[in-house]
Amino acid sequence: MNVLVVGGWGREHALAWKLAQSARVQKVFVAPGNGGTARDSRLENLPITDLNALTEWAQAQRIGLTVVGPEAPLALGLVDLLRSKGLRVFGPTQAAAQLESSKAFSKAFMQRHGIPTARHQTFSQADAAHAHIDAHGAPLVVKADGLAAGKGVVVANTLAEAHAAVDFMLGDTAGLQHNAGGARVVIEDFLEGEEASFIVLCDGRNVLPLATSQDHKRLLSGDLGPNTGGMGAYSPAPVVTPEVHARAMREIILPTVRGMEKDGIPFTGFLYAGLMIDASGHPKTLEFNCRLGDPETQPILMRLKSDLLEVLLAATEPGPHGRLDQVELQWDRRTALGVVVAAQGYPQAPRRGDPVEGLPPDADDARVFHAGTLLDADGRLLSSGGRILCVTALADNVRQAQQRAYDLLAGIRIDGMQYRRDIGHRATRH
Ligand code: AMP
Ligand code: GLY
Repeated sequence: MNVLVVGGWGREHALAWKLAQSARVQKVFVAPGNGGTARDSRLENLPITDLNALTEWAQAQRIGLTVVGPEAPLALGLVDLLRSKGLRVFGPTQAAAQLESSKAFSKAFMQRHGIPTARHQTFSQADAAHAHIDAHGAPLVVKADGLAAGKGVVVANTLAEAHAAVDFMLGDTAGLQHNAGGARVVIEDFLEGEEASFIVLCDGRNVLPLATSQDHKRLLSGDLGPNTGGMGAYSPAPVVTPEVHARAMREIILPTVRGMEKDGIPFTGFLYAGLMIDASGHPKTLEFNCRLGDPETQPILMRLKSDLLEVLLAATEPGPHGRLDQVELQWDRRTALGVVVAAQGYPQAPRRGDPVEGLPPDADDARVFHAGTLLDADGRLLSSGGRILCVTALADNVRQAQQRAYDLLAGIRIDGMQYRRDIGHRATRH
């Protein structure tokens, strides 16, 4: 069977790498892919980004399964498009992807179905938003309604920061992608606790949790600096104890999947709940993503022993829903940890075009997943995006995985590269 992975970041490199290990897979196409997927002989990059053209190509090539990595093509309805041509695809429809693409939709959904989350209000008028901020007081969190590639959330510790965030997000110079109906902001209570990424597979009815993980959102060591797409991750996440896991399933994931089914928009694909877990082990939902996390996917898939193709085929079995209820995932008991290497200037203005050198050879317990890289006409590997690599290692415990990842990273040379020195710090404290 030929398989298509849509996207070209680290998450898609890891997905394609893992799918290529399946005995039934002949070739994995990655659209558009990156320098890492270009170098792997079992993978083939496909330079198509237009969604109609991609659908036509998949139809002509009789692609047996498509997996859509990033949120943007999901929010644009790629899954609906592929399905309308009778193609098998793992991912949410455009309607279901609103759980991520519209904060207003997901907050209203959570309220309607009693799913624990921060209290919130939605505004389209700046005056009303400013008045709410003054009445509420700081700290609070201001979120743009549409997909905003990491620029859409401001955790405001002062009233001035909150007011500025509203002006930015409701102003017409914001450069954010607004949803139908124009610019809106969600203002919500600040939640305290420790974050974790809780990612499950859904087939429209059944739910199969992946191994737990935790990301590091801030740019700089010590959780300082601006928010990013994620600077490193590891799996498992000790903060998700068996009790927290059971609670997250019972109070958040299952009501969400049942609620979507009840609302007539069954969720298929990876569902990612960003959790805030308070000191007493009570999880609340910070956000939903309708896809795998990046970089959480890289350590998670390093630990997955099951055949991912077989799992996704079970999830996309034709019929009213798949048969994920008959699947059990096998995990490597070790810890996997990935450190992101980012470009100079990331996240605001990443520099591109720098040679990427000194990559360590891949091994069973160590692997460099590419994100913003490309191979130029001379076969040289160059940086081409904000997050360039995710150096991922597997070891008996988090300290050893951390040690191994940083040892591998030590040989990598990219002009101006930045990375955090403390990936895994929360887990080593547990
Ligand atoms: P989001 O894109 O909604 O996950 O927000 C990005 C980041 O902002 C999260 O990973 C949290 O670190 C932080 N954040 C979002 N909402 C809240 C909240 N209500 N309370 C505290 N921190 C938050
Ligand atoms: N690493 C966070 C995300 O993928 O949204």
